[in-house]
Amino acid sequence: MTFKDLINEGKNQFVKETILSDEFMEILKKNVEPMDTLMAYYRCAIMEVETKFKVLNEQFSLEYDRNPIEGIKSRIKSVESLAKKVRDKNIPMTIQSIEENITDIAGVRVICAFPEDIYMLADCLLQQDDITLIQKKDYIQNPKPGGYRSLHLIVSVPIFLKNEKRNMKVEVQLRTIAMDFWASLEHKLRYKKKIPPQAADELAVELKDCALQSAKLDQRMQDIRNRLSEFE
Ligand code: GTP
Ligand code: MG
Repeated sequence: MTFKDLINEGKNQFVKETILSDEFMEILKKNVEPMDTLMAYYRCAIMEVETKFKVLNEQFSLEYDRNPIEGIKSRIKSVESLAKKVRDKNIPMTIQSIEENITDIAGVRVICAFPEDIYMLADCLLQQDDITLIQKKDYIQNPKPGGYRSLHLIVSVPIFLKNEKRNMKVEVQLRTIAMDFWASLEHKLRYKKKIPPQAADELAVELKDCALQSAKLDQRMQDIRNRLSEFE
């Protein structure tokens, strides 16, 4: 037996006795199961909120012959990025503290053509008697320094399980097509680590200008639609 074989055998033994031990498997099961359940609840909450927006879109389509919503993109936070957030926020890794402190596990992004529809849809959602507003951030009225615009709502929505009703938090981001286009480009650049500092600065200036231009474009398109609707 070579030295390498000896090391490998030692490794296998260690894996069997620790990572694959019944005791460790039990710990894993105890922690993974509640986490899977929690994530399933958040997926249900996404379905509830998505349905609410789809219903509103349907109603507008019937009554006014137009669709305020261009598209809905939903996502659930990955367990990895959730774990990172828990670590960075320095909160306990328990189901209760996650539910209390992390508000963006379930995310629903609603894309509209016109800025006025964003506020109209947000109002319609918040008027519903099973929705509770927890936080509102209006980055359209007050864009972020980099130029980011969107309306963010953290809402609580009930999901109905076999024997219980559970209130879940969902982050709703409402934005126009132009705001979404801008945010996805900016997001891509943000995660490119290899951009030299000078180029990064130049791109930031360029992006900020694009944000201002696209806000103007959103407004002009809105004005055109409003003028058109006067003739209807
Ligand atoms: P997080 O802890 O990162 O979720 O941010 P926060 O708690 O300060 O909330 P905020 O409302 O500022 O941002 C929440 C989400 O909005 C982010 O996860 C992004 O999806 C989006 N967002 C916020 N700011 C920007 C931005 O400058 N650029 C882009 N592309 N997206 C942004
Ligand atoms: Mg977030």
